[in-house]
Amino acid sequence: MSGDDLSRRLGIEPDAVWSQVGALQKQGYEIVLRPDLGYRLVGVPDRLLPAEIRYRLETSLVGCRVVVYEETSSTMDVAHRLARAGEPAGTCVLAESQRAGRGRIGRQWHSPKGEGICLSVILRPALPPHAAPQLTLLSAVATAAAIRTETGVPAQVKWPNDIVVHRKKVCGILTEMQADAGTLRYLIVGIGINVNTPSDRLPSGATSLLVERGEAISRIDLCRRLLLSLDERYATFSAHGFQTIAQEWEMFSSTLGGHVRVEVPGRLLEGQAVAIDGDGALLVRKDQGIVERVVAGDVIRVR
Ligand code: BTN
Repeated sequence: MSGDDLSRRLGIEPDAVWSQVGALQKQGYEIVLRPDLGYRLVGVPDRLLPAEIRYRLETSLVGCRVVVYEETSSTMDVAHRLARAGEPAGTCVLAESQRAGRGRIGRQWHSPKGEGICLSVILRPALPPHAAPQLTLLSAVATAAAIRTETGVPAQVKWPNDIVVHRKKVCGILTEMQADAGTLRYLIVGIGINVNTPSDRLPSGATSLLVERGEAISRIDLCRRLLLSLDERYATFSAHGFQTIAQEWEMFSSTLGGHVRVEVPGRLLEGQAVAIDGDGALLVRKDQGIVERVVAGDVIRVR
């Protein structure tokens, strides 16, 4: 498009077009100028820029506000701070890298710069605190669905909070909440996806979408798809409850039907994973036929 056309359409001086193009180029946009033809956009950087994420993003809640950090301690910390300050439900915090990314039970989450998606979403569901695990499973289903649609990689959900591909972890989900006097004030869902990390930089037992698909993935496209997927499922959940989410979770599950070993506080439980219940707990049938309800723990599929 010619500089004159751009200046008319944007309602700015021709000189300002030039300086705005320069600013975009600094952000990594590849724009070439041919004096006879005008400006041409050749490439968009694979950076999680708020304007790219929000561009024509048709969600009703998730992504209403998007905050992106080049680097932060953990997007969970930022999201907690914003939620305490009254930031609305649906606000998303992303980071290109985290100095102290965290996982469940005090584990670290490795977040190499520009290779993955590190996202925390503020939610304010009208739920009792004990129902919060439903949101972990909802987020897992939404993430697996987004990965499948956007990349074609056959992602599965592994109870309670992992996404796996061929039994290797590609994504972890961490849910933290603030509750007092039995009331849930807000909840933060943290999602970490290994997107473009090459195999030699992955911890053992982990994989990335790059490794599984054999080519780099646009993090912007995946991130937009993820926000849409979360938004749709959160709307369904708010209107109709957990039932449809649970059904979808069962469809994507790598856990159900298998013989599992679960580390529950103080002991090891073994049996067949048969279902999840209305609160998102895993039901394990032991060899004697007794069904135990597991609300938290690490699951290993034995066969
Ligand atoms: C796990 O596997 O135990 C959960 C990992 C969750 C990682 C994500 S990355 C975005 C958000 N910020 C964090 O510090 N953790 C979560």
